[in-house]
Amino acid sequence: MDPRPSLTSEAAWLELKEYFKSNLDNLKLKDLFAKDPQRFQKFSIKIDTPNDGDILVDYSKNWADDELMAKLFRLAKERKLESARSAMFAGEKINFTEDRAVLHVALRNRSGKPVIVNGKNVMPDVDAVLTHMKEFTNSILSGHWKGFSGKQITDVVNIGIGGSDLGPLMVTEALKSYNKGLKMHFVSNIDGTHLAEVLMKVDPSSVLFIIASKTFTTQETITNATSAKKWFLEYAKNPAAVAKHFVALSTNEVKVKEFGIDPANMFGFWDWVGGRYSLWSAIGLSICLSLGYDNFQQLLEGAHFMDNHFQTAPLEKNIPVILALLGVWYSNMCGAETHALLPYDQYMHRFAAYFQQGDMESNGKYVTRSGQVVDYSTGPIVWGEPGTNGQHAFYQLIHQGTRLIPADFIATVQSHNPINGGIHHNILLANFLAQTEALMMGKTEEVAKLELEKSGMDADSIKKILPHKVFKGNKPTNSIVVKKMTPFVLGALIAMYEHKIFTQGIIWDINSYDQWGVELGKQLAKVIEPELNDNKPVSTHDSSTNGLINFIKANR
Ligand code: F6P
Repeated sequence: MDPRPSLTSEAAWLELKEYFKSNLDNLKLKDLFAKDPQRFQKFSIKIDTPNDGDILVDYSKNWADDELMAKLFRLAKERKLESARSAMFAGEKINFTEDRAVLHVALRNRSGKPVIVNGKNVMPDVDAVLTHMKEFTNSILSGHWKGFSGKQITDVVNIGIGGSDLGPLMVTEALKSYNKGLKMHFVSNIDGTHLAEVLMKVDPSSVLFIIASKTFTTQETITNATSAKKWFLEYAKNPAAVAKHFVALSTNEVKVKEFGIDPANMFGFWDWVGGRYSLWSAIGLSICLSLGYDNFQQLLEGAHFMDNHFQTAPLEKNIPVILALLGVWYSNMCGAETHALLPYDQYMHRFAAYFQQGDMESNGKYVTRSGQVVDYSTGPIVWGEPGTNGQHAFYQLIHQGTRLIPADFIATVQSHNPINGGIHHNILLANFLAQTEALMMGKTEEVAKLELEKSGMDADSIKKILPHKVFKGNKPTNSIVVKKMTPFVLGALIAMYEHKIFTQGIIWDINSYDQWGVELGKQLAKVIEPELNDNKPVSTHDSSTNGLINFIKANR
C-alpha cells in the first residue's frame, strides 16, 4: 500500500473539523428527525441474506446529516480505502511489520476463486484443513472416535488464550442452541484455578483436549496443556493414550511434535491468519465440535456474504464502512473515547469481550505505517454487556453522565427460547427499543416538571428534585436487528465488525494486524518468574515493583 499523507492534512479531515465547530448544533437528533420524515429510510440499510432473513442496520440515530456523511465518504476516498481493501483481498502483505498477508477472508472464501499468497493458490490447503475438520468432527459426534478405554468423547476442553480462545468461546456460546451434545469447556488463564475447575468436571476417559495456539509457544497455553497432559496420564498411565485425547491447532508443527501430539492429530493454519481473526481457521475446531460441521460451514458462508458486501457495495451503502466512519467522527472530532457493544441476546454475552481483543489489539496503535507518532486518537475502548443486565448496571452513566458514549444495540426478532408464550422476548425487545429512544429523546425540564406535578408533589420539592430528573438525550446509537441469531447471521456480524476495524485502521494509517504492544509485559514476566523461586529480597527493579515482589515473598 502506498504511503499516505498525514491524516490531519487531508482536505476532508479539515472540513470535518470545521463542520464539527460550525455545525454541531444543527445535528441534534430530535431536530434531525423532525426535519426529515424519511430519515430512517435514508439512514438505514437492509441486506437480504439468502436464507436467514434481512440484516437491518439503522444508523439514523447518529449526529449526522447528508453533508456530514458526504464528508466522511470523501475522507474514506482520500485515504484510498478502496485500493487498501483490494490489497487485503489480493493477499498483499499489508501486515508489513511482520511481512505477512492478512487473509482471514480466504478461510471463508466460498467463491471457488483462487487466493494467491507468495505466488501460490492457498485455497487447496484451506479446503484440505476444512475436510480434516469435517471428518474429525463427524467421527467424534458419531461416537466412532473412542477414548483410550473405549468410551465415546463427551467433553471438549479448548486450551488457548486470546484469539485462540475468545472466538471459539464467543461463538459456541452465541450459538449454544445449535449444540450437538458435547459439553464445551474453555481454559485460558494461567491461573491454575481455571484449569483445576474444569478438570473437576471432566472424566479423563471421555475428554478431548484441544490445544489451540498459533505459535505453540504461548506460556499460558503450553503450561495449561502440560498440566492437563500430566493430569490425564495420571489416569491413563499410557503415553500412547495421548493420541486419542489431545489434538493441536497450530501453525508450528515442530513444537506440536515436541509437545507429544502426533502431527496426524494436528490441524494447521498459516502465518497470514492473525490470532484475533482465526476463528474461521482450524482454531474453529471447537466450534465445529459444538455445532457440527454444517453449522460451522454456515458461519463461514455468512462471513463470506459480508465479505462480498464489503467488497462490492458502494461506500455510501457499505455497512462496515459507514459504521467505521461514524466511529471516526465520534472518536476524532467529537471526543468520544469508548464504543459500547450491547447485544440484547443472552447467548451473545461474550461478544463485547471478543471484540475487545478484535478492535483494541488491532487498532490500539500510536504510530502510522510510516513510523510517525499520530496527532489524533486511534482505536476506541470497546466494552459492553448484554441488555438488559447493562441497563441495571452502567446505562445510568450513558444517559446522565458527562461522557459521550456511542453504542451499538444488537437484537434478534426471534428468540431461540420463546418461553412462557414469548413474553420474555417481547419485554427484551421493548427494552432494546426503549433504550435507544430514551437515549435520543431524553426528557426535558418541562416534561419532567409536568410529571412531578401530576404525581401531586409540592412546588418546593419539585424545585429541588427537578434537575436530577432531566435527561439531556441526544445520545447517538446504532441499532442492528436480525431475524434470528443463526450461524450464517453471526458469521456476517463478526465479519461486519472485522471490516469496520480494517476501515478505521486505513483511515488512521496504522497497521491493524500486528500486536507488538503485548510483548514487553511477556518479556518482563520471564525475568520476574525466576526471582519468585526463592525468598531473597530483590532490589533490581523500581521501588514499587521491588516492594510488591518482596511483599509476595514475605507472605508465602
Ligand atoms: O498476546 C497476544 C497474542 O499474540 C494474541 O494476538 C493471540 O491471539 C494470543 O496471543 C495467543 O497466541 P497463540 O495462538 O500463538 O497462542
